[in-house]
Amino acid sequence: MPEAMNPGLSIEECVRRLKRYHYAFKRLHQIFTARITAEPIYELKMGFSLHAHLCAEHVTALRKRVGEMREPPLGLEVVPDANLEIFFDEILAAPTTEELILGLYEKALPALQSALEHHVQDTNPLADAPSLRVCRFALVEIADMLKFGAQTSAALVDEACRERAGDWLGLLDDALAAAGALDGTKTPSGKTVQLQHSATPYQYDPVPRRDERFPDPFNMGVNAEVFLYDEKLPPEPKTLMMFYKRLREVDVPEMMASIITETTDKPWDYYRDMTRQLWDEARHAMMGEVGFANLEIDWPKKVMINHTWSLALNTQLKPIERHAVLYFIEQGLMPKNGKRFEWEVGQASHNPLSALFQDYDWADEVLHARIGRDWYLKEFANAQEAVKYGDECWSRVLMNWENWRTRGLTQHRNWWPDVYRDACKHWGVEPDPQVLAYCTTYQTVRADLKELTGSA
Ligand SMILES: [Fe+2]
Ligand SMILES: [Fe+2]
Repeated sequence: MPEAMNPGLSIEECVRRLKRYHYAFKRLHQIFTARITAEPIYELKMGFSLHAHLCAEHVTALRKRVGEMREPPLGLEVVPDANLEIFFDEILAAPTTEELILGLYEKALPALQSALEHHVQDTNPLADAPSLRVCRFALVEIADMLKFGAQTSAALVDEACRERAGDWLGLLDDALAAAGALDGTKTPSGKTVQLQHSATPYQYDPVPRRDERFPDPFNMGVNAEVFLYDEKLPPEPKTLMMFYKRLREVDVPEMMASIITETTDKPWDYYRDMTRQLWDEARHAMMGEVGFANLEIDWPKKVMINHTWSLALNTQLKPIERHAVLYFIEQGLMPKNGKRFEWEVGQASHNPLSALFQDYDWADEVLHARIGRDWYLKEFANAQEAVKYGDECWSRVLMNWENWRTRGLTQHRNWWPDVYRDACKHWGVEPDPQVLAYCTTYQTVRADLKELTGSA
């Protein structure tokens, strides 16, 4: 009773604050997404993929709630405060990973957390129960993100680094103070904030970068698909090829981040759906990683995961053309030789993890086909035209196997026998000579590349 009798926030004030949380989550989603591609550290690529997805989900919930309290136009595309815009522009443009981490996890997310906590305290829990629920859910996931952020800065940011970033972190505080805090409940400081990192507008970097666990990123020396579809070969070693194919999917978030970042004119649900898929693809990569770890295979040394697909697409095609290629590849994964086949191989092998991962990978793919229908297919008169365009775009992509070799970018080393031997040791079996001798590369299968390297 005492809580319900507390007048709390009016609709006017409630909506004003919700729009600022909405703006903050939207900008966080933008930053997490835009910084996936060129960030070399594998864990950060994966973490940013998850956090972009979480932020997109909270944007969606907040938009819905504002829509329940106001008639359109809802004004959700309006920047609520020029200093908040500076605050997020500065973090987006942070020139180093360390500054980015500090800005996101030590400034932006804590400010948003404190704003949401105030909302929970200030609002009437009976009258404003639906907003309260949205805020509480958001707080749960912000706590998860902050935990990841704390571990990240403990690992990456030392005192010297923190000191070098000191002025800039002060600038972020100033921007928030000038905005009257993230929720605008304090008196604005009145101080003018001098732009630092965002003085020249941020430019998205489309070139994927990888850390030292990807020592041979142009290696296309082991053709996973020819092996996988060879009926004469047994299922156990095929699980290794599937873990390789999954882990290679690191390139899909790298590529999807470019589509999402460079496509600016879509309704919000487009960004939400595409970011969900981006996160699924990051999960697929981690499934591959877990599969190798489970077999005690040192994948960074033994398995050469390349970045050739995201590199080629991001630097050779326009955003809609990249989406066309993604759609073209994914619609090819649904028939017999696609996801069902991979799941059956997992089942036939004696690796329960492989079967489980392929089961969920297949289910995710059904969702991705739906996302493709909703957001790509609709741009065309009919489905055939959409597929044809995807085929054309993919055919234009230059994957120059021989050129990379002569330029010394890679030797396309056949890493397969080594990995297979390690797995046999783990399984306690003798290597099968036919499996051990496998040496088909991606060089001669250019014509089929469109089906074969499709890792999405
Ligand atoms: Fe995938
Ligand atoms: Fe997919």
